[in-house]
Amino acid sequence: MSNIQVNRTNSQNLYKRAKEVMTGGVSRNTIFRRPHPFYAATALGSYVTDIDGTERVDFANNMASLIHGHSHPAIVEAVTDQMRKGTAYTLGTQIEIEFGELLVKRNYNFEKIRFVNSGTEAVMSMIKATRAYTGREKIAKAEGAYHGTYDFAEISQIATPNTWGDIDKPNSVPVAFGTPQGVKNDVIVFPYNDTERTLKLLEDNKEELACVLIDPVSHRVGMFPIDEDYLMAIHKWTRKNKVLLVFDEVVTYRVTYNGAQSKYPIRPDLTALGKIIGGGFPVGAIAGNEEIMSVFDPTRRILKQPHSGTFSANPITMVAGKTAMELYDSQAVKDINHMASVAKKQIREVVKEVDVPIKITGAGSMFRFHFRHKVPSHFRESYQDKEERKLITDILDYMFLRENIMMINTFSCMFSTTISQREVDKLTDALFNALTKFKPRIEALAK
Ligand SMILES: Cc1ncc(COP(=O)(O)O)c(C=O)c1O
Repeated sequence: MSNIQVNRTNSQNLYKRAKEVMTGGVSRNTIFRRPHPFYAATALGSYVTDIDGTERVDFANNMASLIHGHSHPAIVEAVTDQMRKGTAYTLGTQIEIEFGELLVKRNYNFEKIRFVNSGTEAVMSMIKATRAYTGREKIAKAEGAYHGTYDFAEISQIATPNTWGDIDKPNSVPVAFGTPQGVKNDVIVFPYNDTERTLKLLEDNKEELACVLIDPVSHRVGMFPIDEDYLMAIHKWTRKNKVLLVFDEVVTYRVTYNGAQSKYPIRPDLTALGKIIGGGFPVGAIAGNEEIMSVFDPTRRILKQPHSGTFSANPITMVAGKTAMELYDSQAVKDINHMASVAKKQIREVVKEVDVPIKITGAGSMFRFHFRHKVPSHFRESYQDKEERKLITDILDYMFLRENIMMINTFSCMFSTTISQREVDKLTDALFNALTKFKPRIEALAK
């Protein structure tokens, strides 16, 4: 696919320089593509122009982090204004308190909050807080779920049929070579949406578990909302056994005005946030139950979890985040979710017209495509093998190079509020062309 003729000279040249200074030529593998990454020059709203002059419609939005697209004027103004006053001090700022007030007010489960610099850091601090609070060492997480790159959170994220083991007791598959055995031992992996097996695994480890970590619409598991009865069963079990129930809403906070958790009649003990709450700047947050959050409290006689971070709650991120979240009010949430549902409806019509075995999962303003005859409901059903990954890469290259559409590499879209009917029509037309072109290959491997 990469032999599609596009203007790419500047990107090719820049990549040669990049390889001289950065391992593999990149600082984040997400942007890598063969034979070379493309480089951005400018971006506004839903459009990104690369350094060779090609403009593309953006349905990736920096991996779901730009809820208002690129360079939203109100965010640009707020950040520019703050930059003139200073970007980081060894002092607190009023803006971090205002932003904290906004988020705490927005979600009844957030009694206290702390800011950090990434989703990875938020999940890590949250897990450590559960250990500090309970005095136990193990955590339980879903097979295949992505929670960032903390050793413990990372386990089983790249499980494959060769490594995942028996569904009754999935293996603790490490991501990085050299992951300590202790980490593997301390992560209990359960099959998402499988009540009986999950409860059995939790029960077998109940004396040692600090928390059960849940992403209510896990992207990598398959991007389907967690089954309510399943979540209720886990919740009940955690209450009975005094194990904390913690949510990763780094991505799913966008789904409703106060996060995907508000769709369920439970209160997670803690929640990790990130992505959209930074208004386009690096961010993370841990929020939740006051008593558990007190492990971070420096005024306590015993400080159970010292917690800092040079750029935590820096005023640039705080003003950008506050502006972004003020703009993401309940009407904006309704509108973006409506636009995504219009897109899904149009795409389903395309799928029907082209007559290809594709199913769509998702929630709110995000959705993912699967080459399946039936909608998948757990990780092993939605797992993309090597052949499927190759086809997805070819389709996404075609979308990027020929149709000028950017999507997320699992074959997903994460909308921004700047996406209108015009961009949805572009996406639908482009997918019509792509699915028609790749129909024989999709049919050959659909399960
Ligand atoms: C569900 C989830 N949790 C955590 C993270 C980690 O966030 P970050 O990339 O900001 O470290 C991600 C990133 O994609 C994510 O999707």
